[in-house]
Amino acid sequence: MQHSTSYILLFAAAVCAVCSVFVSGASVLLEERQQANVELDRQKKVLVVAGLMEEGESLSRVEVAKRFETNIVPVIVDLETGVVLEGVDASSFDQRKAAKDPEASHPAPTNAAKVQRLPNQGQVFQVVTDGRLQSIIIPISGAGLWSTLYGYIAIDADLETIDGITFYEHGETPGLGGEVDNPRWKALWKGRKAFDKRGKPVIAVKKGMAGPPETDPYNVDGLSGATITSRGVGNLVRFWLGQDGFGPYLDTQRAGGST
Ligand SMILES: Cc1cc2nc3c(=O)[nH]c(=O)nc-3n(C[C@H](O)[C@H](O)[C@H](O)COP(=O)(O)O)c2cc1C
Repeated sequence: MQHSTSYILLFAAAVCAVCSVFVSGASVLLEERQQANVELDRQKKVLVVAGLMEEGESLSRVEVAKRFETNIVPVIVDLETGVVLEGVDASSFDQRKAAKDPEASHPAPTNAAKVQRLPNQGQVFQVVTDGRLQSIIIPISGAGLWSTLYGYIAIDADLETIDGITFYEHGETPGLGGEVDNPRWKALWKGRKAFDKRGKPVIAVKKGMAGPPETDPYNVDGLSGATITSRGVGNLVRFWLGQDGFGPYLDTQRAGGST
């Protein structure tokens, strides 16, 4: 049996309409779960950089939440003064959202990390085990080659040594700039010094190889074939550890803490 052209077109349109309802319905229904998974992944990255979870370790959602709640104290910081703010719900604070809110942010001064807006308040995670501060986890973000990279750097309680770095979102090329996720490269950061003797952030990702932390404490190996991403990572780390980022907060901590 032969169908007319208009019948075929109408049939095809009807199939498309039905399929698009299914696809958009699935997208809407799964959005909440996707958000939850993104948040879970971010929490896992924080736990890894805090040294509270092994890279690639398989943990249930409940265990991740438990480790997070037991050892990690989120605090909200006034970025300009570095003072820790009391009476603010630190756990639900969204720094990225704040940076986009004109009421809660302001334009950033021109900077190498290409950060456009600065939130008035930032969220750091204090890692506390057995009542002792182990490290401070600071959110970092800035330009790579293709994308803005988002992640965290953990600074040891000595407020000088890097304990770890991680990125939870970026769009750099897998195998090139995407090697920021390579555990072997991330391990190179541990034990390096972020600041010079005067507290200025000087840690850099150099082109080529750095020496061991004992002899070359302020440099990390560059990613081969990805000089722009490498340079971007150095820029963004120094930006957020500097005076326009969390520098004032780190200064208050060096002076004995604001709380
Ligand atoms: C398809 C493609 C993807 C690339 N992705 C990246 C990247 O993610 N990060 C990066 O720094 N360079 C990337 N590059 C290389 C840059 O264009 C540039 O050549 C490089 O950063 C220079 O690094 P090198 O001096 O180590 O070779 C890419 C190049 C091509 C052709």
